[in-house]
Amino acid sequence: MLRAAVCVSGGGTNLQAIIDGIAQGAVAHTEIVRVLCNNPGARALERAKEAGIETVCVSPKDYADRAQFEEALVRSVDEVSPDLIVLAGFMVKVPVEMIKKYENRIINIHPSLIPAFCGTGYYGIRVHEAALARGVKITGATVHFVDEGMDTGPIIKQKAVKVYENDTPESLQKRVMEEAEWVLLPWCINHIAAGKVKVENGRVTVME
Ligand code: GAR
Repeated sequence: MLRAAVCVSGGGTNLQAIIDGIAQGAVAHTEIVRVLCNNPGARALERAKEAGIETVCVSPKDYADRAQFEEALVRSVDEVSPDLIVLAGFMVKVPVEMIKKYENRIINIHPSLIPAFCGTGYYGIRVHEAALARGVKITGATVHFVDEGMDTGPIIKQKAVKVYENDTPESLQKRVMEEAEWVLLPWCINHIAAGKVKVENGRVTVME
């Protein structure tokens, strides 16, 4: 059984896709042992509670400085010793200590085809605003392992999504979620749980 900790910040639709994937059997041999959130008002927390999953909220507002917040975050992850940490719309830069400790065991979903529209400042709806501003005809989503850079870790899987002329950032975000994110993330977790994902020299091989 793969014990996963899922980190969230907002709506939690990707978390929901994982919960549903586990319930429906598309994500096998996986259990979500804890949902971690930095935002006490996040809908994602309710989704976790509705599914009977333990939640922990670690908000930066409750700590004197960044170092103490990061320490609390790492402690909360360590408490459940997960096999995998899933960043599912987690809008916090992961502490370096956590990245080192869980090397190749942290994955992130990003709503573009990396290396386009990623890195500092590109998150959530901003990614789709930038894609539309640039006039790309194809965008998508990427699941990758997390390293010390911003969206620079080894890519596991990507899925392309068409951009339409009349798209708004919101309509594009919705299509990228529906067609790419909610499919990709459960798929990747399922393959990691099955031991089918290998990382070597910064490159990922997936046995399908
Ligand atoms: C998703 O689109 C996810 O890809 C994105 O935030 C959204 C969270 O939605 N993540 C990033 O931009 C990370 N750089 P959700 O809370 O409904 O899953």
